Amino acid sequence: MVVLVTGANGQLGQAIQSISGKYPEIDFVFCSSSDLDITNLENCQVVFDEFKPQFCINAAAYTAVDKAESEPAKAFDINANGAENLAITCKKFNTILIHISTDFVFDAYFSEGIAYYDRELRLPLKSNLGLTETDVPFPSGVYGLTKLQGEQAIQANWEKHFIIRTSWVYSQFGNNFMKTMLRLALERVSLSVVADQIGTPTNAVDLAEVLIVIMVSSFKFQVSSFGIYNFSNEGQCSWYDFANEIFRQNGVSIDLKPIRTSAYPTPAKRPAYSVLDKTKIRSTFDIKINDWQTSLSACLKQL
Ligand SMILES: NC(=O)c1ccc[n+]([C@@H]2O[C@H](COP(=O)([O-])OP(=O)(O)OC[C@H]3O[C@@H](n4cnc5c(N)ncnc54)[C@H](OP(=O)(O)O)[C@@H]3O)[C@@H](O)[C@H]2O)c1
Repeated sequence: MVVLVTGANGQLGQAIQSISGKYPEIDFVFCSSSDLDITNLENCQVVFDEFKPQFCINAAAYTAVDKAESEPAKAFDINANGAENLAITCKKFNTILIHISTDFVFDAYFSEGIAYYDRELRLPLKSNLGLTETDVPFPSGVYGLTKLQGEQAIQANWEKHFIIRTSWVYSQFGNNFMKTMLRLALERVSLSVVADQIGTPTNAVDLAEVLIVIMVSSFKFQVSSFGIYNFSNEGQCSWYDFANEIFRQNGVSIDLKPIRTSAYPTPAKRPAYSVLDKTKIRSTFDIKINDWQTSLSACLKQL
């Protein structure tokens, strides 16, 4: 089974590379942005023609959430046009497309008449915690909007797709919140972290393992429940809680203060509540998901 991975030098791409040796039956083709530029349709088709993959994992994206506010055309080109190019190419080569999307497709304050989160009380309003795949997306920033446009372009062009929405991705690879916290702890004696945005961290290696489960299920057992799936680790926390746990598990002593989002303004607005409900992915692919603290511990051991 040939699996082509775009954006192979990004955080998720490197996480997939790190576990690829465990799956000798899979012939991985890792493409960096210089090997395959997803914004170039012709380039996509030439590379697919060479490798004829059964699956394509699109780990390529424009992920600079704040910078996207001042570079909307570039974010659109990669996250929406790029996704569309891959969908068109996958259709031409009958390749199953596994595309990664984000919890940032939800504003989570209020969307299409459904209130998910009471901004004043800072409490979720749904009785069953977690945003499901059928909840109506309503992004609040350029990054989230372009990622949603990417999802829609795939849905419009090629039915054989899995869109995996994930959140708060970190790992031993690339740049992420966990590594930033550990770096800042070396430079400062105190740190303020936002405590009123609630979500779930995701270890990129856990995400990589799930992508392989999905591919193997589709390939061997002909499970073809195409569509959107949520995946993150289990549980929920604020960025403050996440930082606190990173420092606790790493034995770092620092004066950590919780602050409100309003005290840390950023160009892009972040969801206040973006916990993803994983019922669908758990039941369809019969997987067990680690809680976020256990997966954080596994990641810190790799550092
Ligand atoms: N990080 C998070 O917290 C988070 C949360 C939710 C969802 N996600 C989603 O998860 C996926 C993986 O994220 P990540 O954290 O691994 O991102 P990342 O570390 O920023 O990696 C993105 C990769 O995409 C590549 N890329 C950019 N433009 C490209 C193009 N035109 N053609 C081909 N490759 C291109 C980049 O290559 P260059 O470096 O060479 O430009 C980079 O290697 C993305 O879809 C992201 O939206 C991430």
